[in-house]
Amino acid sequence: MSSSEQATRPGIPNHVGIVMDGNGRWAKSQGKVRLEGHKRGADVARQVVRWARDLGIRHISLFAFSTENWNRPKLEVRALMGLLAMTLPKTLPEMRENGVRFRVLGDISPLPAKARKAVEQACAETCDNSAIDLILCLNYGGQQEIVAGVQHAVSWAQSQADPEKALAELTPETFRSMLWRHDIAPVDLLIRTGGERRISNFHLWDAAYAELYFSDVYWPEFSKQDLQLAVDDYAARERRFGKTSEQVNR
Ligand code: FPP
Repeated sequence: MSSSEQATRPGIPNHVGIVMDGNGRWAKSQGKVRLEGHKRGADVARQVVRWARDLGIRHISLFAFSTENWNRPKLEVRALMGLLAMTLPKTLPEMRENGVRFRVLGDISPLPAKARKAVEQACAETCDNSAIDLILCLNYGGQQEIVAGVQHAVSWAQSQADPEKALAELTPETFRSMLWRHDIAPVDLLIRTGGERRISNFHLWDAAYAELYFSDVYWPEFSKQDLQLAVDDYAARERRFGKTSEQVNR
């Protein structure tokens, strides 16, 4: 049985997405360079997957590099790509041991070859694991994903007997099946660390009904207890998906 088919424990989100923000500010607060913040952030990213798995979360997606992050200083972009290329192969034994299936969301084609190969190797070597899916969002942007979905929808419609009718009859469900995330479970809980209250182009489609949780903790200091706090907060929410409280509690 794959991880997406297994039932999630009551009160536990099936898919948690995290904007891992605050690496730079953490580094500054410690008198360190930004790269030290990213290195520490990568360590926390490794650990959060294990904490999530222990809680019974089936899918965790981490926003590691956005489509806008290319605009950062060249040195920082290079350092982040280097960190990815170095960290992923080292993390493979741990992923195998913990049943982690590594996946990617985003367009990895512009990544430097070393980073791209590390990503492809991690995907290939963990594809049979089923305890938890780790979805690393790389060169990912929610707006870019939706634009790509529109392009997909238009070319799909053009292949139909009546393209205009096909587009007019498109539903949110069929459109989602044309997005990059088509085979990824919808996000239930979207966490952002580092004190900012923004989505920053993460999981825009699924954000429609994801529960949002903002933590003031800088990502390099995010702990198992902080994840537990977010999950406890989620468990106390009532997800109504547009219905009334009476309807969902019937
Ligand atoms: C946001 O903090 C963080 C990023 C843009 C990069 C996130 C990357 C990691 C945590 C490393 C992941 C690496 C691997 C190999 C998984 P920021 O730099 O914007 O922090 P600031 O807002 O305090 O400046």
